[in-house]
Amino acid sequence: MNKEKLRIVVIGCGRFSKFFVPLFKAHPVVEKVYVCDLKKDREQEYMQKFGVEGYESFEKALEDKSINAVAIFTQRFKHGQMVIDALKAGKNVYSAVPCAVSIDEIKEIARLVKETRLTYSMGETGVYRAPAMFCRREYKKGTFGKFVYGEAHYNHDIRNMEDSFKSSGGDNWKKFAGVPPFFYPTHSTAMILSSMPGVYATKVSAMGFEGSSRTDIFGEDKNNYKNPFSNETMLLKLSNGGIARISENRCVGWHAPETYISQFYGEDGAYEFSVANHHLSTWNPENPKMNVLKRVTDELQPKSVSDLIKSDYDKAIQEIADGMGFYETSPIQPTERLPKEYEGIWNGHNGTHHFLIDDFCRAYATGKLSPTNIWAVARYNIPGLIAHESALKGGVLMDVPDLGNPPDDWEVLDYDKN
Ligand SMILES: NC(=O)c1ccc[n+]([C@@H]2O[C@H](COP(=O)([O-])OP(=O)(O)OC[C@H]3O[C@@H](n4cnc5c(N)ncnc54)[C@H](O)[C@@H]3O)[C@@H](O)[C@H]2O)c1
Repeated sequence: MNKEKLRIVVIGCGRFSKFFVPLFKAHPVVEKVYVCDLKKDREQEYMQKFGVEGYESFEKALEDKSINAVAIFTQRFKHGQMVIDALKAGKNVYSAVPCAVSIDEIKEIARLVKETRLTYSMGETGVYRAPAMFCRREYKKGTFGKFVYGEAHYNHDIRNMEDSFKSSGGDNWKKFAGVPPFFYPTHSTAMILSSMPGVYATKVSAMGFEGSSRTDIFGEDKNNYKNPFSNETMLLKLSNGGIARISENRCVGWHAPETYISQFYGEDGAYEFSVANHHLSTWNPENPKMNVLKRVTDELQPKSVSDLIKSDYDKAIQEIADGMGFYETSPIQPTERLPKEYEGIWNGHNGTHHFLIDDFCRAYATGKLSPTNIWAVARYNIPGLIAHESALKGGVLMDVPDLGNPPDDWEVLDYDKN
């Protein structure tokens, strides 16, 4: 057990970290939380809103021996280098998604974590979304048998989300918004791969959708990434012989539900989700020519949502599209493992935020690895980086590098239990 409590600086006071400052503050393993932003007006706003102190700069925090952790909530292309700098300075690191935008940076993070044994945890919401929790549990029980095929998606139409990019991109926001969808692949890859811990992608072929009507964002000379694709889809060959199809869409006529597993098929059983309802199919042991199809929605949707689905389906699907359930947990999520201090604190992304900060804190406190340790999240992140290359080459089949499992002598925390 690591005895010293966390003294953490949250770097970046933009649109997202506001969900997390209260969670760091309330966690019993945390002694002190500071906030820091290059834009001091944002930092001031956070200080007042959350009753915390400001901190001069990221660089000063790295030099300060009284600080033992940083939480990186800066723009996504900055994460890799900032995490590397923080680990080199001896700090434990929580990072928002993604890990990094280059494979070299991801490898360097893994090398440093292995060398220093510091805690690194990436806040991937996908691993605690109800479909991932359900498929993980049933896969472990053997309900699906041998995995055959799965599909996951992350739809985030940026035509309607320009505020997210304007926050740091200002008038130039389109240059940042044109980031390849597969540079941010972890919400969808993580849902399939975290359902089968230890399984990883070995090969990928991908295609991109070009010629979007949003031509002022996507196109070779339109953004900082020379990215022509508004939407990308990849087909992955997995290490257990299965196949996964992953889509990351930034310009489609669909808003919510945004991140989900639509299909998860094994030889003996299968899961499907459509708009509001979740189903599990298994072979009928009495008559193996037929299957048993069961609605499992009550376990996977928050109670308020599943009640409405039963009483007024048309109203429920509109409410889901408008974001119903976003802040709530579902019965399948293991809330009993969370600190009691989290009760009543604002959640988000379908009740996943509390688990992510708790994972970082309990990994630090126990000296074990977070479920979203660097070896796990490299497997969610790297396929996307290779898939974008494949898409640029018209779908050519490419090998996906794998960083392997965590070191044998380093136990990984369970998603479900303390
Ligand atoms: N579902 C999810 O997991 C999810 C959802 C939203 C955002 N995110 C991630 O969270 C991160 C933050 O997103 P956001 O919407 O808040 O971005 P944002 O652009 O609103 O905020 C980023 C902030 O970081 C600050 N910053 C940049 N460099 C800094 C430095 N060196 N020192 C101090 N401050 C610095 C910027 O000034 C800005 O205020 C992104 O990387 C994004 O990928 C994840």
